[in-house]
Amino acid sequence: MSDDSESKSIFEPPAWDDRYSGEGTIWSGEPNVQLVAEAADLPPGTALDVGCGEGGDVIWLARRGWTVTGADFSAAGLARAARLAEEAGVAERTDWWQVDAREFDAVGRAYDLVSTQYLHPPDGGMLDVVGRLAEAVAPGGHLLVVGHAPPPGSSHLGAHEPNARHRAMFLAADLLPGLADDLEPITVEQRPHPHTRDGETIER
Ligand SMILES: C[S@@+](CC[C@H](N)C(=O)[O-])C[C@H]1O[C@@H](n2cnc3c(N)ncnc32)[C@H](O)[C@@H]1O
Repeated sequence: MSDDSESKSIFEPPAWDDRYSGEGTIWSGEPNVQLVAEAADLPPGTALDVGCGEGGDVIWLARRGWTVTGADFSAAGLARAARLAEEAGVAERTDWWQVDAREFDAVGRAYDLVSTQYLHPPDGGMLDVVGRLAEAVAPGGHLLVVGHAPPPGSSHLGAHEPNARHRAMFLAADLLPGLADDLEPITVEQRPHPHTRDGETIER
């Protein structure tokens, strides 16, 4: 396998199914910090979390009274998320949708909140994905898109960026051209991403 095709496989379902088929869980189970920051004060309604992984955000929203669809292209991830939602006692407020965000079609669906956290399709595909997700937002609803910014000096969402992982990263402002004119951007900014490594909390 060439370097490029090897790096591309990390963006496809089999790689994620492998990760979600191992022992234990990959993610903390805690809701993402920016979801809590933006959604804690919203009145509960219907929500869609695309790239939901093990469902930490889905479960947090459901516990707060939202009716939530968790979507992901990994069948193993969704199975694990459904089990964790059951254990958390929120199964009746959740459902699951196996879908590839790159082919996502919102027809017949409308949610008060559409959230995606750390979904990074390859080759700058996020620009198209945000347009698709925006079409699933109900009138008066919200779209929340959170992802990793590229390291300084790399050209994000750029066809000429040699590193496939960096090419999949984005700044909030990069995504604005993917949104329809009737969506009003409320917050477009970079925020620190605190995470713990070897017992030490790092902010970057
Ligand atoms: C980095 S994980 C984030 C999981 C979760 N949002 C969180 O923050 O804990 C990315 C998730 O997106 C899913 N994913 C990646 N590309 C996808 C795509 N094109 N369509 C749907 N899901 C995708 C993966 O299976 C994985 O569960």
